[in-house]
Amino acid sequence: MNTYPHKITEAFRAIFGKNPSFIVRAPGRINLIGEHTDYNNGFVLPAAIDKAIYFAVCPRTDRLCKLYAADLDDAYEFSVDKPVKSSKSWANYLIGMVSELRKDGHVIGNGFEVAFGGDVPNGAGLSSSAAVESGMGFALSYLFDLKVSRLDLALTAQRTEHNFAGLQCGIMDMFASIHGKANSVIRLDCRDLSFEYFPFDLSHYKIVLCNSGVKHTLAESAYNTRRQECEEGVAKLKQFYPTIDSLRDVTLAQVESHQGDLTDNVFRRCRYVTGEIERVVAACEDLKKGDLAAFGQKMYATHEGLSKDYEVSCEELDFLVEQARQLPLEDVLGSRLMGGGFGGCTISIIKVEAVDGFIEAMKSAYADQYKRSLATYVVTITDGVGIID
Ligand code: GLA
Repeated sequence: MNTYPHKITEAFRAIFGKNPSFIVRAPGRINLIGEHTDYNNGFVLPAAIDKAIYFAVCPRTDRLCKLYAADLDDAYEFSVDKPVKSSKSWANYLIGMVSELRKDGHVIGNGFEVAFGGDVPNGAGLSSSAAVESGMGFALSYLFDLKVSRLDLALTAQRTEHNFAGLQCGIMDMFASIHGKANSVIRLDCRDLSFEYFPFDLSHYKIVLCNSGVKHTLAESAYNTRRQECEEGVAKLKQFYPTIDSLRDVTLAQVESHQGDLTDNVFRRCRYVTGEIERVVAACEDLKKGDLAAFGQKMYATHEGLSKDYEVSCEELDFLVEQARQLPLEDVLGSRLMGGGFGGCTISIIKVEAVDGFIEAMKSAYADQYKRSLATYVVTITDGVGIID
């Protein structure tokens, strides 16, 4: 039984001394395959999960916005007319949504009170920040009848991340938190934002996440540098292929034929990204055919590329993937680091009957190697952001 909606409602009552008007649930996300492809206009294959941030919300009659982060037991307030960056990093995701919606011409009529919190672990690569932005945006749209479309909500959240958190992220995380659909993964084309749902049947296999416990703040990582390196690659390759706008427009073979024209780093970044974009397309064909075994092998290939060419892994993530790879192939279909990297979780597809054994083996190997415990989560795929009872 999920106790978070209740906990957040109680927190709201304790802090604001009344009942909230409504509760919003905004999920975290997983990504099956297609990493660091979103800001290169490629494909991604994410889904919303049963780990979420909950918001208890009530309007005010004045201009004040009062925020309460239940998990941190911390509060912040600002005027709806002056949504500027604060020194409290958690508050910026909410203030940013107010600011970016206003920049789009939306009129946020009054102040409001919000208490929020949930079970999306922080810095674990499950996009807790995108969940906070999606939830706040959805709540504001509902509260002030702004009628913001789901796509615009995702774009607003992405701008919040760029302008208020300093992360030049792609659109995947917020898109998944907002467009998620139970039992389906989303194949999103990040070039034109068209998308398609693919059923993802979890009756025989489970998705297991292993949290390395290495916490990343992507804004302080080399994430933005990777994005620049890709842009550098595009600028160089444009000299040979003048019509290209992004790595989506280049094939792996073309990148390989220009190795001598690129610096080693830029070459390897472009090799990974173009290979990964082609891999997602092939992985979707595997899904259509129901060939999860072939799909799983591609997850290992993605990890290899992320680790060696894109260099966004870390020792602990490499260790976890290597351990998974040593288990019987029929039990463990595939495993790789998930999300931006530099820490956070691996995602693995595990046969139902083998889940307990897998978790036990991973925990024990991790404890032996790093003398600390490994948190694991068996996740299910859920709907995206919405109001709950
Ligand atoms: C982070 C970013 C996403 C995406 C992934 C890597 O989660 O927020 O936009 O780039 O990393 O796939």
